[in-house]
Amino acid sequence: MTDRATLLRRYRTRAPRYTSYPTAPAFVPIASGDAARALGAVSGDLSVYVHVPFCTSLCWYCGCNNEIRRRPPADALVDDLLVEWHRAADALGGPGRVRQLHLGGGTPTTLPLAALERLWAGLMARAPAAPGLEASIELDPRSVDEDYVLGLVAVGFNRFSIGVQDFDPDVMAAVNRVQAPELTERIVGALRRSGDPSISFDLMYGLPLQDEVRFGRTLDRVVGMAPGRVALFPYAHLPSLKPAQKLLEAVGLPDADARARLMELAIERLVGAGYVRVGMDHFALPSDPMADAVRSGALHRNFQGYTTCPGLDLIGIGPSAIGCYGRLYAQNHHDRAAWSAALAAGRLPVTRGWWLRDEDRLRARVIADLLCHGETRFGALERARLAASIDRLTPLEVDGIVIVEEDRIQLTPLGQDFARNVVAVFDAWLQPGSDTFSTTS
Ligand SMILES: C[S@@+](CC[C@H](N)C(=O)[O-])C[C@H]1O[C@@H](n2cnc3c(N)ncnc32)[C@H](O)[C@@H]1O
Ligand code: SF4
Repeated sequence: MTDRATLLRRYRTRAPRYTSYPTAPAFVPIASGDAARALGAVSGDLSVYVHVPFCTSLCWYCGCNNEIRRRPPADALVDDLLVEWHRAADALGGPGRVRQLHLGGGTPTTLPLAALERLWAGLMARAPAAPGLEASIELDPRSVDEDYVLGLVAVGFNRFSIGVQDFDPDVMAAVNRVQAPELTERIVGALRRSGDPSISFDLMYGLPLQDEVRFGRTLDRVVGMAPGRVALFPYAHLPSLKPAQKLLEAVGLPDADARARLMELAIERLVGAGYVRVGMDHFALPSDPMADAVRSGALHRNFQGYTTCPGLDLIGIGPSAIGCYGRLYAQNHHDRAAWSAALAAGRLPVTRGWWLRDEDRLRARVIADLLCHGETRFGALERARLAASIDRLTPLEVDGIVIVEEDRIQLTPLGQDFARNVVAVFDAWLQPGSDTFSTTS
């Protein structure tokens, strides 16, 4: 059998990370009326994503939609977010409850606590928290102190996704993100003293100066701090979309083989320390609910990545936020001024999206099954509809990445690292050679 390193080289291509299907680049213009119509069919438990676009400095690798502001206009943002939320809630077909809330960005923790309290109260005023509410927030340790994180717990947040990336000071200096490991340790300590919230770390490989020695030390430190979850992202280098990333080319980026070794090292260390692999880029301690979800087949995937929450209608608010409710994907204006202007004009601030057809839903299910459970099953009619895509799996089958049967496709253990290559064959909207997406390894 061909070894993994050779296969990583052979299958290195550009492909989406499939937090949705179709993916956002395939979306077409939609109108505010489309969103209102789709929301009219929605009620009950909801997932809500709030995009906070501000950061106080730019990490040069960053691929997120953000706006650098020394003093973010927090009150104006919260005012607009609540206008949007009320407008969406008015359009719902019946009463809603918030079962899952995620604040992402940018950096939500650039907002003062008082602004977050007001946002929370405004959200819950229109749709109360459902029992078992999962309320998560992306937290940049550089923007908070111990009192602030205790305040977040008091507001009601119970899941904290902490931006770590790497602990090596030279790597962090090279990407313009100076963040002493002791700071992250202090914040984790404060969170743990506040009770037992869920803690997740974001790590990234493929950054300048990263090598196995440095990244090995980072991984040892991560394991020592024992977050319940780790997200391990391959650095997505797309300088045509994010010009600041060009600054990293001057320092030098690890080549494809070096990236593959960093990924293998991380998998080896984390699994060696007892973490369970979750899908293509997450790891969870066996005691974490995400590891249970892997065991019970309850894992889901949405725009925020892997989640243990069942597939709920998702309402996205804030610039560039994407919702998925009923059969509609609806994405807001990317630019904050355009988003705010649409709100001022009395509209839902959506601009692009996609009405899901039956064919899209079948392909979306196959892709989500493979990314979440490593396997998908289908009936004879569905197989016939997917035949052309399934034929494209032959080389991957020969290479031991996937097993194709009459009513089932399964990733092999080796295939886990090639999941994006496998699911991409089911993407009817993927343009060959598109440089919109990052490399698979
Ligand atoms: C919105 S940020 C997290 C919150 C906060 N802004 C921070 O950085 O701490 C989300 C995560 O996306 C990941 N990320 C950002 N740019 C990326 C890129 N170009 N490639 C891969 N992952 C990236 C980082 O791991 C980052 O922690
Ligand atoms: S990684 Fe986080 S803090 Fe850094 S620029 Fe991106 S969103 Fe902002």
